[in-house]
Amino acid sequence: MQILDGKLVSKAIKDQIAVQVAELKAQGKKIPHLAAILVGNDGASETYVASKVKSCAEIGYNSTLLRFDSQISEKHLLDNINMLNENPDIDGILVQLPLPKHINEELVINTIDPSKDVDGFHPMNVGKMVSGLPTFIPATPYGIMLMLEHYNIDTKGKHAVVIGRSHIVGTPMSILLSRNSNPGNCTVTLTHSHTKNLKELCLQADIVVAAIGKPEFVTADMVKEGAIVIDVGINRIPDASKKSGFRLVGDVKFDEVSPRSSYITPVPGGVGPMTIAALLKNTYHAAIGQKGNQN
Ligand code: GUN
Repeated sequence: MQILDGKLVSKAIKDQIAVQVAELKAQGKKIPHLAAILVGNDGASETYVASKVKSCAEIGYNSTLLRFDSQISEKHLLDNINMLNENPDIDGILVQLPLPKHINEELVINTIDPSKDVDGFHPMNVGKMVSGLPTFIPATPYGIMLMLEHYNIDTKGKHAVVIGRSHIVGTPMSILLSRNSNPGNCTVTLTHSHTKNLKELCLQADIVVAAIGKPEFVTADMVKEGAIVIDVGINRIPDASKKSGFRLVGDVKFDEVSPRSSYITPVPGGVGPMTIAALLKNTYHAAIGQKGNQN
């Protein structure tokens, strides 16, 4: 069993981008600038956004964080997005999800200028991704693809079972893995809450991608010997022994699944850091005017 070390791989990617940013600087060119919008005080969202902003500083990007109270009106939020759209210094915009119930998430995403949509959630970018055209790939699936690429994992002809069909992870992941590319060329089964024989399907999987947000959902009896296991879950479990009052666990029961797997991502330190590295790559491409990456 080999650990897929997201911390290590993301650091390598960030170091590489830092060099590219230094080159831009030396040539007097524009420094990438990411704007993040955070609405409300959800603890997990706060952590993710703080981590994104911190990573920008580490590699030499400029960043702007716009914070709003959870009571913000939809109109005020949309006005702010439009302001960022029109600001030529801003290259990438991300609105941390989920948003409060009174705000129409779809409308918010549709308002982001597709050329600044570094999350790759705008329907125009989703359409390009599905068509195999260069665009911004949603950061979590893109990060997973970068991880598979880094470890030179041969995915060709493998059966990948993706658990969860969210627009953020499961659906784009299923598309990327099935593409005629490397990594890619998998036979993909996309499973969800109405899938009847999930365990049997998982047992057939050479690659399992768990993205359902249920703590330790994937157990050893669901995983074939030698499978590659990608754990996208970041779940907070109450733990009185921790200062924060919680600990993080994935969607995979790591202790029992890891001995059966050939490769596995830990939580934390697996997919999470890769998501940030992928976001930074998308932002770089936005800044140099290359509309998305070639992946
Ligand atoms: N919430 C959970 N994952 C993501 C993500 O990748 N981007 C944004 N904007 N919000 C998220």
